[in-house]
Amino acid sequence: MEVQISQCSCGKETEAEKRERIIRIIEDFRGREGSLIQILHLVQGIYGYLPFEIQQLVSERMDIPVSEVYGVSTFYSFFSSQPRGEYTIRVCLGTACYVRGGAEIAKRLTQTLGVEVGGTTPDSKFSLEVMRCIGACGLAPAMMVNDKVMRQVNPDKLKQILAMCD
Ligand code: FES
Repeated sequence: MEVQISQCSCGKETEAEKRERIIRIIEDFRGREGSLIQILHLVQGIYGYLPFEIQQLVSERMDIPVSEVYGVSTFYSFFSSQPRGEYTIRVCLGTACYVRGGAEIAKRLTQTLGVEVGGTTPDSKFSLEVMRCIGACGLAPAMMVNDKVMRQVNPDKLKQILAMCD
């Protein structure tokens, strides 16, 4: 599947162009079983999150209830209905990570970034979330920065990770 990106002369995709792209994505997936999650992933890639009016558009175009779209978007922690920061940090609080210091890592991040879990820094740089098991239990505690998994995180490593995001 090839999705073309059209842009206005300022280099940014307009709202109408984003919507057209989403409609084309939905058409490309038409008839494929279980495509809602994949479509929402692509939509989140366009907007950075899942605005409610776009969830409504997906619902109309896929001919499914908006409650189903909303249900999926709120069930999976990797979807967000709020704008996120440039870097989304997800601290694993699954059992292995929790017992090896995951909660302390989350606490340090709330202090260092000055936001609660679920929040975004005022400069829109970082969003902080927690999740359960990211499949790196052997090297706990682990966390993710956007799509990258960070293993054996400790306070020193945490400083380096945040510095890398500058
Ligand atoms: S419990 Fe954290 S990676 Fe599995």
